[in-house]
Parts: sequence; C-alpha cells; structure tokens
Amino acid sequence: MRTALDCLFSPGADTIPQVWAGRTAQLSDWRDVVRPRRVAGLPERGRTILGEAGLGKSALVRRIARDAAASGDWVTPQLRVPSGSDPLMILARALLSLADQAGLPSSREKRIGDQLRRVETVAAGGISVTLHGQPGPEPFTAMADLLVQIGQAGLRQGDTAVLIHLDEVQNINDADALSQLLIVFGDALAHEIAATAPGGMEFIRSLPIAVYLTGLPDFAEAAGADKGATFTRRFRTTILAPLDDEDLASALQPFVTDGWPVPDDEGGIGRVRMTPDARDAILRACGGEPFLFQLAGEQAWYADGSDVITRDHVLAGWQIARPEAAAHVERILQRLPGREREFLEAMSGLAPEDRTLTRIAAEMGYPRASNAGPTSQRLDSMRGIIARGKPYAFRHRAVEAYLTTGWPDLT
Ligand SMILES: Nc1ncnc2c1ncn2[C@@H]1O[C@H](COP(=O)(O)OP(=O)(O)O)[C@@H](O)[C@H]1O
Ligand SMILES: [Mg+2]
Repeated sequence: MRTALDCLFSPGADTIPQVWAGRTAQLSDWRDVVRPRRVAGLPERGRTILGEAGLGKSALVRRIARDAAASGDWVTPQLRVPSGSDPLMILARALLSLADQAGLPSSREKRIGDQLRRVETVAAGGISVTLHGQPGPEPFTAMADLLVQIGQAGLRQGDTAVLIHLDEVQNINDADALSQLLIVFGDALAHEIAATAPGGMEFIRSLPIAVYLTGLPDFAEAAGADKGATFTRRFRTTILAPLDDEDLASALQPFVTDGWPVPDDEGGIGRVRMTPDARDAILRACGGEPFLFQLAGEQAWYADGSDVITRDHVLAGWQIARPEAAAHVERILQRLPGREREFLEAMSGLAPEDRTLTRIAAEMGYPRASNAGPTSQRLDSMRGIIARGKPYAFRHRAVEAYLTTGWPDLT
C-alpha cells in the first residue's frame, strides 16, 4: 500500500505538506489578527517571517495564502525573488494580475489606466529602464497607487482581503530596489481613506491589504540598516523556531490511532498506521526541523510496502536519509559568517551547564566576554539559533544535535 505515488511526506521545497505540524500561533495571527483588523480598516503591520532554511517559512505563508484564497481573498502566488533579479519587476507583474482579478483594467477612470500602464512598463523592463526620462511620478509610486486601487476594489467587493507573499527576500541585495519596495508596501499599508459606517458616520480607515515577507534572517539586517524607519514601523518580524515535539507527535497521531487513509491497490481506501515507537524515532531523527521531519517520514514510508510503519522502517529509512540530513545542517552552518560558526563550535564544546558567554568567549580565545557579545546577540535575536539564557542553550535542535552528538547517527 505504501508506494511512491501515495507517500504523504514531502521534503521537497514549496509545497504545503499533507502531514502538517504546529505553527498555530502564526496561522491564528493571520486568521484572528492581521486579516480581521485589515478588513475592518484598522492599522496592522505587514509580517516578516524569517528563519534558517528548512524551518517552514515558505510552507507557512503558502498555507496562509491557500486558506485565504479558498475564502475568497485575492492572493498572489508565492513570489520568489531569485538572487540578482529585480524584485520590483516581480512585484509589478503580480500587481497586474491582482488588478485583473479586481477587474481594474475595465475601469473607465483615466487615472487607473495611467497607473496600469506605468506598472506595465516596470513589469516589462524593471525599474532601471523606467527611471529616467519619463514624465509623471516615479514608477514605484505608480505601484503603490495601483496597490491602493486594488485594496479599494477589495473593499468594494465586501470584506475581500488582498494578500501579497514575497519569498526569499534575503536575495534583494540592491539597496535602492529594497528601499523602493519597502516604500510601495509601506505606503499602501499606511494608506487611509474616508469611509462611511452603516449608521452614516464618517471615519478614516486603512485598506484590506496584507503583506508577508519570508526569507533568511539576513534580510532583517539589510532592511533594518538604513531603511530602519519604514521597515520596523510597517512590519513585524518573527523568527521561526523549530517545531515542538508535541506538535510533531500530534501531526503523526492520526497514523498511530486510526491510520491515515490512502488509496489501496483495489481502488478502495486503506489505512497506513504507525507504531508509537516509530513516531518517537521520527521525532528523534528530525529534532523539530520541518524539512528533516518530512525527510524522515518519506524514507520511513519507502522503507517497506506494508501498511504499518515500524521503528525498524524509520531507522532503515534514516540510513538512506542520513547524508542528505547531514548536508542540510552543514549548509545552514556553512552559510553563517565565520565568527558565528566559531561561536557555535565553542559553545558546543562545553558541557551544557558551562555554556556562559564568559566561557564561550574564552574558548574562542577572546580576552573579554564582551568581545563575543555581538556574535551571540546575532545568533539569538537575529537567527534564533541559540537562546541567551542562563546558561546559553541551543534553540535550533538539529544544529545542536549535529554539533554535540553523533547525529545523524541515531544509535
Ligand atoms: N508546519 C509544518 N509541518 C510539517 N512540515 C512542514 C511544516 N512547514 C514546513 N514543512 C516542510 O518542511 C520543508 C521545508 O519547508 P519550507 O517552507 O520550504 O522551508 P523554508 O522556506 O523555511 O526553507 C518542506 O518539505 C515542508 O513541506
Ligand atoms: Mg523557502
């Protein structure tokens, strides 16, 4: 019954996994705060969701967007910014397609026609070719205006939110492009219009526009540097942590209790089960890391064709997954600046109770604890890899396992 065709786990990037765990705070932030507030006309900042690769940033916002689209909101697809590309061009294209959805091209207002044309130029050639020699407002102003029009159309439609998801934002390495992009979003999010309440009372409201930016933690620095003002006033940043074991266990619980329904060989529905010790082995293998969770699940699935996933299947599958699992964590470490990596190595060389800033700094060969201060701060508040408690501890449990144990070896 367990075949490649019905495998429920998906370690590949950019899908919404069927076996979904946790992230309830972030899902409810959209459902209970961001969306209702923006739709009611109340100010609410955009959201930036950052974290190391594999923590589930893209999947999270894809899921938010899928749920929003299902309930009638206008959403962009996940707009990935490849490195070296022009993010304004990518956004311009997305705005044009939202404008289509909002029915703006059929508007007879000249202003809207002009805005659409200006944004079309950006979509076709990027901001650099449109910057010079054109009369009228800057292209990014036209983009902000068009986004405002789309928001107003959503309002007319009745409680329709407009959701923009820009992914891999750490790849925006042109400071001007970043600044203009933040202005487009910032202006549209802050835009206020006069509205009339059902009783006839006038009030000022914001538009039902929401923006999610996702990417690696380095983005916070780029955006915070000189654009600090716009960025922190208009966006709230969350650093994703690994998933809790309880959340992962509940995600797997349907396998353990009733079995997960999958098509069987005879055109009916069968059920795939999992023993409790198989579930626990998956939890141990992945250390709360969503990518590794899917990888462990996938390989356990493939390890055998029967309808019960056992601990032996998980261990056999993990043998196959090991090189990829190790490479995944190694990539996270390799991407870190040298000092941060050295810090983590020094920290992991100490017994857990000895992991104080003083001891770690000494291990690194610094005369004073304060020399390692900025590095520890970045690893904590910017990247979420460690927590500077008493003593310091790892937050990223897969990184911890890699540095301090024989992981990915599970025995
Ligand atoms: N909440 C979750 N529960 C289970 N699996 C998840 C969850 N979030 C992400 N994943 C899985 O983890 C992997 C990495 O997710 P992805 O969103 O691509 O990470 P990121 O964008 O942070 O690099 C994907 O295979 C995805 O299916
Ligand atoms: Mg991603």
